[in-house]
Amino acid sequence: MTRSGDEPGGQVDLETPNPARIYDWYLGGTTNWAIDREFGAKVLETYPAVRTMARVGREFLGRGVARLARLGVTQFLDLGSGVPTVGNVHEIADSVNPGSRCVYVDNEPVAVAHSRVLLEREGDPARHAVVECDLLRVDQVWEQALATGVLDPSRPVGLIVVNVLYFFGDDAGPHEVLARYRDLLPSGSYLLATHLTEDGVPETDSERRAQVRDRYQRSSAPLHLRSRAEFTRFFDGLDLVDPGVVWVPEWCPDEHPSPYTDEFRTAPETSSAFAALGRKP
Ligand SMILES: C[S@@+](CC[C@H](N)C(=O)[O-])C[C@H]1O[C@@H](n2cnc3c(N)ncnc32)[C@H](O)[C@@H]1O
Repeated sequence: MTRSGDEPGGQVDLETPNPARIYDWYLGGTTNWAIDREFGAKVLETYPAVRTMARVGREFLGRGVARLARLGVTQFLDLGSGVPTVGNVHEIADSVNPGSRCVYVDNEPVAVAHSRVLLEREGDPARHAVVECDLLRVDQVWEQALATGVLDPSRPVGLIVVNVLYFFGDDAGPHEVLARYRDLLPSGSYLLATHLTEDGVPETDSERRAQVRDRYQRSSAPLHLRSRAEFTRFFDGLDLVDPGVVWVPEWCPDEHPSPYTDEFRTAPETSSAFAALGRKP
């Protein structure tokens, strides 16, 4: 573990590529180090589509939050929120419903530190907060999120678990974790989520995708793919909102047209990722 001298955060591991910072690099951000860029570049050498897939995933987050805001949701709990970049949850929420509230949660110190700096500069402490916590520790996350005073647990919450569930193997119990979050959420709350998959993805390039997974397997963050049925289970007890469980680029692409999402129009299954929104009755 090496301490970073010029970052706002505390202990930062500069020797292991980190998924938050690699993802930031895919998106064109600058909160990443040589070790992350080298890892990302090797992934792109093997499978260049990964960069577009990351952008499409981020665009989905934007469309999902905008939709939730239009559905009247004014408070958000964003799990695995990442390094702040274009189109952060609180900004999108505010653009639809000024005065919205948001708590960001991540366990990566650099992502948390940058979120803090951004919120100190542009946020409102009464409405925005960041919590450094492992999202698998549900009760701890919930307690700390409520302790910020930003969220009102008696009103619907938009729970966001986008581009992160595939970092958890079954041994981490992600279905049980999500079940516990669903229990804690008040009625009228929503779950917005995505997941990487090979289920229904054409065989073309499957060898290269396997090589990418091998590379992640050797990093600090192996990838765990799930079938459509396994992804759908994360929404047990919730009412799926139209269009249901679909490929990420198929999830309301016309609400915010973009060239990246458009690249998948004719073959959305090649995005290798499912998306869905569910509402707690
Ligand atoms: C690929 S990024 C996605 C960021 C953001 N959700 C988005 O869609 O743009 C995944 C994020 O999840 C975070 N993460 C991974 N495992 C986590 C855990 N156990 N607890 C909290 N955050 C986690 C990583 O640090 C990273 O910031």
